[in-house]
Amino acid sequence: MENSGSYEKIHHKIHHRFVATILCFALIPLFVAGFGIYYQFADIYRARVLESLRTLAENRRNAIDLFLEERVSQLSALVYTQSFGQLKNEEYLNRVFTLLQARSKSYLDIGIIDHDGNHVAYVGPYQLKGLNYRNEEWFHETMLRGTYISDVFMGFRKFPHFIIAVMRREGDTSWILRVTIDTDIFDSMVKAAQVGQRGDAFVVNRQNVLQTTPRFGGELLSVAPCPSFPRFAGTQVREMELDGTKSLVALTWLKNKDWLLVIREDPPENLVPLFRARFLAMILMGAGVLVMVLGALLVSRSMIRQLEKSEREKAMLDASLVQSSKMAALGKLAAGIAHEVNNPLAVIKEKVGWIHDLLSEEDISGSENYKEFDDAVRKIDYHVDRAKKVTHRLLGFARRMEPIREQVDLNRLVSETIDFLKNEAHYRNIEIVTHLDPGLPTTISDSSQVQQVVLNILNNAIDAVGKSGTITLATRFIEEDRELAVTISDNGPGIPAELIDRIFDPFFTTKQYGMGTGLGLSISYSIVEKLGGRITVSSEPGQVTTFTIYLPQVNDLSV
Ligand SMILES: Nc1ncnc2c1ncn2[C@@H]1O[C@H](COP(=O)(O)OP(=O)(O)OP(=O)(O)O)[C@@H](O)[C@H]1O
Ligand SMILES: [Mg+2]
Repeated sequence: MENSGSYEKIHHKIHHRFVATILCFALIPLFVAGFGIYYQFADIYRARVLESLRTLAENRRNAIDLFLEERVSQLSALVYTQSFGQLKNEEYLNRVFTLLQARSKSYLDIGIIDHDGNHVAYVGPYQLKGLNYRNEEWFHETMLRGTYISDVFMGFRKFPHFIIAVMRREGDTSWILRVTIDTDIFDSMVKAAQVGQRGDAFVVNRQNVLQTTPRFGGELLSVAPCPSFPRFAGTQVREMELDGTKSLVALTWLKNKDWLLVIREDPPENLVPLFRARFLAMILMGAGVLVMVLGALLVSRSMIRQLEKSEREKAMLDASLVQSSKMAALGKLAAGIAHEVNNPLAVIKEKVGWIHDLLSEEDISGSENYKEFDDAVRKIDYHVDRAKKVTHRLLGFARRMEPIREQVDLNRLVSETIDFLKNEAHYRNIEIVTHLDPGLPTTISDSSQVQQVVLNILNNAIDAVGKSGTITLATRFIEEDRELAVTISDNGPGIPAELIDRIFDPFFTTKQYGMGTGLGLSISYSIVEKLGGRITVSSEPGQVTTFTIYLPQVNDLSV
């Protein structure tokens, strides 16, 4: 019993260690795999997002470049096929302009400027004819380079716009054809790259001044909400902070003009599938952890239960082995003692009888010691009888007779046994109650040995109750174990817990000297064991003490 505490501690330790080990071995790979796969996926996904942003930026840049290129070549073609003389005629210019617009409505107005900077002809919504552009930057640039695309500027019309100008040398003079690009059309071309709810696209010049209106923050011609970048080849895609939020940004310079196209995407919006994957991975991992923890706990618990059961069984086996070995030792001892003591006892008995006879033959009844002699002889006779009873019991025990096999009706056997002791019980005012199972099957066993066992236990119960009380005998059939059980309960004083382990020991008795041999229960134990059954005892001192004899239910005589 005192071991159960330390066993519990050991079980606890085993349980904890087992759970910890299982979790270590299962969770570490789970986490490694989970995080590994997630990060792999995140890398690939991020690369894909950046790649698609790069493609978007490059496509848009190509489209814008193509647009500008087309305008320039269209105007060049016009300049080199028409003469200054023709074009300065406003009516003619108007016709040309209508023709140009017929193909694409990308121009706002058109004008012809002579080599002094005079605006000699103009078709468009503003009053610009007659102005002189000599001091304008674009005029000089165009004279210098031949073709020129301006930044967005306010100019004479006080409205943001940008122009394309083409110069032609005609004889010894040169002139310029200049158009204003419809900024709406250009803006919408750039804005086509504003994807999603938070995507943005705009164009800045070398000085980082906005050339189109961005979707979020920043006015046309104000400084752009991003740092300025030197010109570089190709397209750069990067993550960077733009007005306080982290963004994915693609940067690419136009081919035909010093303008930088900036396309920006909102990472959260783009990475939604990634976040969803992360969430899913977390849920899966969480579920995995839960399942593993539960599994480990369950497996460990059932293992511990198994362990406890086998330990209990082992303890029971140990106890019955100890009991059996005590019996075996006792058997040998008993045989020796009985053999050695029986013969002298027989001699003593005979000699006492002889003395007794002599005493009655001789006429010494008158002698003053006659009564003393007679008393001594009687006592010797009585005690020799008692000693013989013990040796007889021991011999019966030691001989370990092989049980015979016969049909036993346990109910009848119990009733008959009670009959033996009925008078004694009645005399002591002890009521014997029986609950015999009418459906109790018979079994193959040794009826006289079983009877001896029931008798021993019933005798003990009567002794325990002493005077006035109740003894209950019951029989029942335990179907699932195929066992017959006889329970014998009494309401005597009971057996103290510290003695209950010893009552089956040979010679253990609490009875007065000379009143009990202490062999009844140990003999009963070995008999029942030999018959393939067992005896159990439970006692609540002061309440009830119950002995139960279990016998296997056997039908086949030959087994
Ligand atoms: N029903 C019972 N109530 C209380 N104590 C019991 C009961 N049955 C047995 N015992 C205790 O177990 C002890 C051993 O019993 P056991 O039958 O082996 O020997 P005994 O009865 O003392 O001697 P004997 O059987 O030779 O008369 C008893 O002395 C008694 O203390
Ligand atoms: Mg007894």
